[in-house]
Amino acid sequence: MRNKILELLRESDGYVSGEDMSRTLGISRAAVWKHIKRLRAEGYSIDSVRNSGYRLSTAPDAITPTAVSALLKTRRVARHIVYADSTDSTNEEAKRNSQYPDGTLFVSDIQTAGKGRRGRAWSSPPGAGIWMSLLLKPDIAPEDVAGLTLIAGIAVCRAIGGRAVIKWPNDIVIGTRKVCGILTELAAEPDMVSYAVCGIGINANNAEFPAELSDRATSIYIETGSRASRAELIAAVMNEFEPLYERFLSEGFAPLREEYRRLCVNIGREVIVAGRGGELRGTAADISGNGALLVSTAEGLTPVSSGEVSVRGIYGYV
Ligand code: BTN
Repeated sequence: MRNKILELLRESDGYVSGEDMSRTLGISRAAVWKHIKRLRAEGYSIDSVRNSGYRLSTAPDAITPTAVSALLKTRRVARHIVYADSTDSTNEEAKRNSQYPDGTLFVSDIQTAGKGRRGRAWSSPPGAGIWMSLLLKPDIAPEDVAGLTLIAGIAVCRAIGGRAVIKWPNDIVIGTRKVCGILTELAAEPDMVSYAVCGIGINANNAEFPAELSDRATSIYIETGSRASRAELIAAVMNEFEPLYERFLSEGFAPLREEYRRLCVNIGREVIVAGRGGELRGTAADISGNGALLVSTAEGLTPVSSGEVSVRGIYGYV
């Protein structure tokens, strides 16, 4: 609902009355007021004038192309940025515009239908998070695309710094909760990648999460007590990603394996892998040269390259 209120405020040149908003959105004026208060707490500056209504004067922490570009050190990654105040999903936006050049970055302040892995929804409230997707056209085999997700994970971890680690393959975790998710989608012919879209969602400044997520999701703000600059964080991820991407394209994942392994919270822990062939329980022993999780069981080492991995002690599996 907050997204809808923000849209109404953004669409209007002047003031929008509380009554108009309550009628358009089918909610009470008290509810409109509650959402306005919440938006202000998130950093939106909203003027209110008796008998005229509300007007958005400034949005927090701009993530426009100008704000991000000024901080980039890259040569090709994110050199072209497509920004939208609101979109369904930046991954979808990238797929609809797949004719754009390699390295184009799609960013939006709001996603109305943010997507997570395995068909789940990804909560993408306005102003707080980073919702972005990189359109990539790597000259690699389709089976190597998983490596893109792994190096994106390294880039995000380096950019966030502090206690951020990776839960294989691509959740970024602080403590026991998730701060970032990565969803890579692929358009390919059997032996050739047409393009890949690497979607990255970072909970930067969320002050709270819906009840159903609060035991598994966290934000940089919740963990550190200070608000992250979203433009700086986007640029930092891109600046970290480019050299990793170039190395990955020329040498594959193997030279990046050691850093990934160090960041990977699974290693040495008990894991449950739910995959197509059923459930596998064991201890995560290592990461292979092509990024698979090597799970040690009584039968020996099993390489796992896809599936849902639960780690003892990290959100849920206790
Ligand atoms: C997951 O952990 O389930 C993956 C979450 C990926 C979320 C990001 S936000 C930007 C991009 N657009 C989407 O719709 N999803 C990804």
